[in-house]
Amino acid sequence: MAVATAVALLAALGGALWLAARRLKGPGVRQLHGGGNPSLMHGKTVVITGANSGLGRATAAELLRLGARVIMGCRDRARAEEAAGQLLRELRQSGSPEPDAGAGGELVVKELDLASLSSVRAFCGELLQEESRLDVLINNAGVFQCPYMKTEDGFEMQFGVNHLGHFLLTNLLLGLLKSSAPSRIVVVSSKLYKYGDINFEDLNSEQSYNKSFCYSRSKLANILFSRELARRLEGTNVTVNVLHPGIVRTNLGRHIHIPLLVRPLFNLVSWAFFKTPLEGAQTSIYLASSPEVEGVSGRYFGDCKEEELLPKAMDESVARKLWDISEVMVGMLK
Ligand SMILES: NC(=O)c1ccc[n+]([C@@H]2O[C@H](COP(=O)([O-])OP(=O)(O)OC[C@H]3O[C@@H](n4cnc5c(N)ncnc54)[C@H](OP(=O)(O)O)[C@@H]3O)[C@@H](O)[C@H]2O)c1
Ligand SMILES: *[C@@H]1O[C@H](CO)[C@@H](O)[C@H](O)[C@H]1NC(C)=O
Ligand SMILES: *[C@@H]1O[C@H](CO)[C@@H](O)[C@H](O)[C@H]1NC(C)=O
Repeated sequence: MAVATAVALLAALGGALWLAARRLKGPGVRQLHGGGNPSLMHGKTVVITGANSGLGRATAAELLRLGARVIMGCRDRARAEEAAGQLLRELRQSGSPEPDAGAGGELVVKELDLASLSSVRAFCGELLQEESRLDVLINNAGVFQCPYMKTEDGFEMQFGVNHLGHFLLTNLLLGLLKSSAPSRIVVVSSKLYKYGDINFEDLNSEQSYNKSFCYSRSKLANILFSRELARRLEGTNVTVNVLHPGIVRTNLGRHIHIPLLVRPLFNLVSWAFFKTPLEGAQTSIYLASSPEVEGVSGRYFGDCKEEELLPKAMDESVARKLWDISEVMVGMLK
């Protein structure tokens, strides 16, 4: 009995040490990109959607550190102001130059609800009036496997926010991106795109709703959109690339119910195996700022390296058809 208990304790201790070692070693990208050069993004204006949480927040923090003027497009002003305040405090504590002082960056909070086309239009209208340039647009906000919900305009929520809202946003900001060229668009997709399909006959999931399928479909749409846009932007010096961040510990799983008893185990496993937001944000930061990807467009990245796509994500006719239908859905064409 005593022997069995001792064995169990030792096993638990060994397991915990192993997990801790793994965590300390870091599961993801270990070399942090851009770190160190506080003027790499100086004079550049960046828009990041969903910048108050998770990957968007970490991306905002790093680009701010690199000297950018970062516009946080967020649906909840209070949450966004709080995140912005925290980011500035963290920046000061880390001893970086004070934002607004010389080469330091700047944080601006703006309301943007991607589940409302009128909010997207208002955001862009204001931005086009107030900003003289836009160097980087990062389409980062996302909803993951929510129960069946509709956006203000009646679209299935995941397709509506992850794809359609960003589709309209990007199109409305294209003129400013072009006049600020060379400029960049960065789209945050997911490896889960593999399980999606663009089922044109039911884009609003009115016939049936499968939340995992709809998430994957929206992330496949992100890739098809990026590739079609890259094609349309050839010769403009505006590039667009799409990425998957890996598995990252963020608030994305808010709609996933984990039974109370399993939660401590889940927390332990995610702490040990998932990337931190800063690790997960490396590819976004890299594509937004690195001179290495100057002029590179229409590619798919993971861990700051180009990766291959499944044929369904490279299908040009599906990409074109999705573009045309999206234009109609968001009211760009009547
Ligand atoms: N975490 C991962 O493992 C993982 C893996 C693959 C891909 N991704 C992708 O990474 C991106 C960022 O997600 P995350 O992991 O950082 O999750 P997160 O912490 O939940 O952040 C998502 C952000 O999107 C915002 N958002 C949601 N609905 C919105 C709307 N209608 N209008 C404007 N903003 C909205 C959220 O705002 P609120 O805070 O107000 O809700 C939040 O700021 C997503 O596109 C996701 O698909 C994440
Ligand atoms: C929902 O979609 C996922 C991903 O496409 C698929 O694996 C799963 O079997 C589907 N579930 C149902 C109940 O159809
Ligand atoms: C794109 O950049 C190149 C190199 O800087 C420049 O020669 C060219 O005129 C630019 N094209 C446009 C359309 O801005």
